Amino acid sequence: MTEATTARLLIIGPPGAGKGTQAGRIAERYGVPAISTGDIFRANIQGGTELGKQVQAIIEQGELVPDALTNEIVADRLAQADAASGFLLDGYPRTVEQVHALDGMLSGESLDAVVLLEADPEEVIARLLKRAALEGRADDTEEVIRHRQDVYAAQTAPLIELFSERGILVAVDGLGTIDEVSERIAAGLSAKLSARVGQ
Ligand code: AP5
Repeated sequence: MTEATTARLLIIGPPGAGKGTQAGRIAERYGVPAISTGDIFRANIQGGTELGKQVQAIIEQGELVPDALTNEIVADRLAQADAASGFLLDGYPRTVEQVHALDGMLSGESLDAVVLLEADPEEVIARLLKRAALEGRADDTEEVIRHRQDVYAAQTAPLIELFSERGILVAVDGLGTIDEVSERIAAGLSAKLSARVGQ
């Protein structure tokens, strides 16, 4: 089902919480493009581009790509026509500086909702080690996954409070089957967006 509304949405959460898996479903529901900074970086690494060469070692170590570079990539992507009437950003923003940059890109328009996908750290390590065995993602070793979790706790978790204060946070339990999580997200987003329309 596509919901006929403009939607400027984010999905955030720890590594392996299921952001990418759920992003496509949310984007389809709201008829907006799903934009993943991690996917953009990985496509550039695979394509051997200059950007890919710049970020490869950073990503393989589980560090964050510098804000200035990440912000520039997102600004370029949001300037494309398909994002004019909404988007679902997956994995961005990840720092307070990126939140401020995104606010600037939206020129006064506000975000509609931020889905926070929560998941138990040990469960997500199991998920990501399974993915490493299947897909061989370079940052899916146990050591790097634990470092990504630490980076998330230090740099991204503080954004939760910030979005909560803006009244746009939708916290969802990311455990259970993919369909169960999708249903929780759909219900949470629907309630949040209707409440905002009614304000
Ligand atoms: P990014 O690609 O965003 O990685 P991440 O946040 O660590 O998230 P993952 O892609 O590992 O997991 P996910 O939450 O999307 O879960 P998924 O759906 O894949 O970023 C990678 C790197 O790029 C960063 O470390 C950083 O270096 C850089 N980067 C990206 N954005 C940046 C930014 N804004 N600033 C600076 N640097 C940035 O699912 C995981 C696995 O679990 C899959 O195998 C999936 O099939 C499975 N799964 C999903 N849901 C379920 C379920 N309900 N039950 C069982 N299994 C499930």
